[in-house]
Amino acid sequence: MKILLTGAEGQLGRDFLFAAAARHEVVAHDVDLDITNRKAVLERVASVSPHIVVNAAAFTDVDRAELEEVAAYRTNALGPYNLALACREEDIPFLHVSTDFVFRGDSTEPYTEFDSPAPMSVYGKSKYAGECYVRSLLNRYYICRTSWLFGVSGKNFVKTMIEKGKTEPRVKVVDDQEGCPTYSRDLAFKLLEIIEKGIYGIYHVSNSGSCTWYQFTRDIFDIAMIDTPVSPISTEEISRLAPRPKYSVMRSVVLEMQGIEPMRPYREALEDFILRDLPEWEKQDEKTR
Ligand SMILES: NC(=O)c1ccc[n+]([C@@H]2O[C@H](COP(=O)([O-])OP(=O)(O)OC[C@H]3O[C@@H](n4cnc5c(N)ncnc54)[C@H](OP(=O)(O)O)[C@@H]3O)[C@@H](O)[C@H]2O)c1
Repeated sequence: MKILLTGAEGQLGRDFLFAAAARHEVVAHDVDLDITNRKAVLERVASVSPHIVVNAAAFTDVDRAELEEVAAYRTNALGPYNLALACREEDIPFLHVSTDFVFRGDSTEPYTEFDSPAPMSVYGKSKYAGECYVRSLLNRYYICRTSWLFGVSGKNFVKTMIEKGKTEPRVKVVDDQEGCPTYSRDLAFKLLEIIEKGIYGIYHVSNSGSCTWYQFTRDIFDIAMIDTPVSPISTEEISRLAPRPKYSVMRSVVLEMQGIEPMRPYREALEDFILRDLPEWEKQDEKTR
């Protein structure tokens, strides 16, 4: 299969490229193909003539999105609009990655694909707008919502906490937001499995299990053998521009319904990430420096 990938330099994009390149031909783009540029997107998709387009490009800075609303909407809504339009022109399917932030977070039960989004933040609203465009333009789409990503490349919560744990005497972490941490490498392989199965629709694609950021930090420190004390705090104690869902735990009824294996528990994925993949990646990174 020939796959045109956007956002290939991002956390998920890099892992998707790694996962897909072994079995498929991948034409990878990042900011060199600005997804907000309709003409460039239409021309590139037509000239590559892929079997599918996968979009991992996004405006992912949740707090900055509150200050740069139009920029967030351009990338997260207009970007997928352009890509969906190009897929419609070429009569090919589209896989678009979305987020748990499309939910309000006032539920007490995990959100399934059949629950209604009600985003609170600019980021969540712009990502939901992207989903709506994709759904209105195409019949053959996969909208894959994921959450709390960590991976070897880029900045993420796990790396930040390991750094803080090694350099600060005590760390304070919020204990009143619950979600599903997800390893971007696991996600990449699951997205491929979904594409290869070829059943269109909305999917929730996160590692199994849920925790608060505080509990997640305890897991991280436990695996990384960091004994720095961790204190639980409330969201109100840290000032952030964007509101966060208190509870954005997702469950995939669709994966279950389609007989696709759920993703493994996040703790298992975190162990592989901290003990195997991150040191390996840092070693390689050192060599190329
Ligand atoms: N990170 C999370 O915790 C999380 C949680 C839930 C869902 N998601 C979703 O998962 C997907 C992947 O996230 P990620 O963490 O891998 O994101 P990321 O690391 O921020 O990567 C996004 C990539 O897209 C590029 N990009 C930004 N604007 C672009 C544009 N206009 N045209 C082309 N490329 C552009 C970025 O380049 P620059 O870096 O140069 O801007 C970056 O390389 C996104 O759809 C995101 O909404 C992420």
